[in-house]
Amino acid sequence: MSSHVDGYLRHIMDTCAVDRTGEVADYIPELAAVDPDGFGLSLCVHDGHIYSDGDSGVEFTIQSVSKPLTYAMALGRLGVEAVDAKIGVEPSGEAFNEISVDDRRRPKNPMINAGAILAASLLLPPVREVADDMVAKVFDELVDFYSACAARRLRIDEQVYASEAATGSRNRAIAYMLDSFGALDTAPDAALDLYYRQCSIRVTTDDLAVVGATIANGGVNPRTGRQAFSGQVAQRLLSVMTTCGMYDGAGDWVTGVGLPAKSGVGGGILAVLPGQLGIGVYSPRLDEHGNSVRGVEACRHLSSDLGLHMFNVTRESRVTIRSVFDISDIEVGPDWSEAERGFLRTCRDRVRVYELQGDLTFTGAESALRRLEADIDDYAVAIVEISRIDVIDPVARTMVLAMKRTLDDVGKRAMIVDPDGVVRASVDRHRRDTIAPNLNVPEDLRGFDPTLPHVHATMDQAIVDAEEFLLKQFTDR
Ligand code: DON
Repeated sequence: MSSHVDGYLRHIMDTCAVDRTGEVADYIPELAAVDPDGFGLSLCVHDGHIYSDGDSGVEFTIQSVSKPLTYAMALGRLGVEAVDAKIGVEPSGEAFNEISVDDRRRPKNPMINAGAILAASLLLPPVREVADDMVAKVFDELVDFYSACAARRLRIDEQVYASEAATGSRNRAIAYMLDSFGALDTAPDAALDLYYRQCSIRVTTDDLAVVGATIANGGVNPRTGRQAFSGQVAQRLLSVMTTCGMYDGAGDWVTGVGLPAKSGVGGGILAVLPGQLGIGVYSPRLDEHGNSVRGVEACRHLSSDLGLHMFNVTRESRVTIRSVFDISDIEVGPDWSEAERGFLRTCRDRVRVYELQGDLTFTGAESALRRLEADIDDYAVAIVEISRIDVIDPVARTMVLAMKRTLDDVGKRAMIVDPDGVVRASVDRHRRDTIAPNLNVPEDLRGFDPTLPHVHATMDQAIVDAEEFLLKQFTDR
């Protein structure tokens, strides 16, 4: 059933893969050495489960996607106030390597190079002479921090680092300009060295998705359960990623995609749905802003097709599954024969009830369906009880209905108890054609057919239906 999510990812990949526009970054020679057709997509949901497709295991350099992480480290070490005195939080509306500062001579934000070099400088000792092994030591700490966010030991790409350091005139100009303003408390070359190294760390889209999920989760890595940074820092990262993460197209990005994000010239994009999930995309051909062309498109599709815009207003509950129980404690109905009642008493535990709650969107449906899938050997009938759900969005409805069909296909049965006709009402609101129209969903699952069997107004009716199913299986044997 989680394969429905895989199906969505595959479809989005297929849709975006045809776009071969854009150019691989070549201003750092070593960056041009990648396969321009590489394309990977990963999604890490709230409990750390990862869905991925394409080149999700291929490593590429993190580049500017490192900026929020180093900023997080600086915030954690120095505190918000001290960092704010040095780096602004206003979108610059300019290119990432613009030499831009505000009227207090602070870099405008931590997502452009000036702000990122300054953030790196804050991790170094405040002395004018910084020994190389001190930079190496701070870099080790930085790698530890990034690795804690990714739940995997990360490593540097030495070739890209050397190439970056050899060709970084523009960044040197930025660092020395900052130094001339008195903005750096450390040696500009040491700050630059640390910045080049952090940009050269190798990651996969799975890594970026986990980092995104850690930010989404208030700093707690959902795969390790460890707190990588505070909730306050996570909130700050989400804020600056929303306003400054995608450079000069911020307004367009927020309205069109609505996911705090950060891109890098290596072709990676990290995006976050706060409180819910992290996304990693990789495709090295870039647009004129330095953002991955297919990465931007994939994020657009995830947002529109799966309803992942952060301002998709629902009262989502973190706990979608309220309770799970079998019907052993519920007496067999009186309408069956003695023999039937005898048989039904032997298999009450083969009927499982899943009570859901909250507004049901993609993430809630995903976790509920994954639970049903994990339990599949434990029941013959799954009754999904949704009386505590007021709103089901189109994607969630499609997933629930697709799950019904999947159970049918493996000789099991899914039933829905929907006393208030929520599923039907939501269909009346969003007519057929608005239901995830781009997705490869079987025609009969796109709209809700009110006559679809096994949707019941009461739990009693569902149990009778379940009993009929079990008896039929018994007599067919
Ligand atoms: O500063 C640079 O030139 C790079 N190493 C990082 C730039 C980057 O990824 C910009 N983002 N799109």
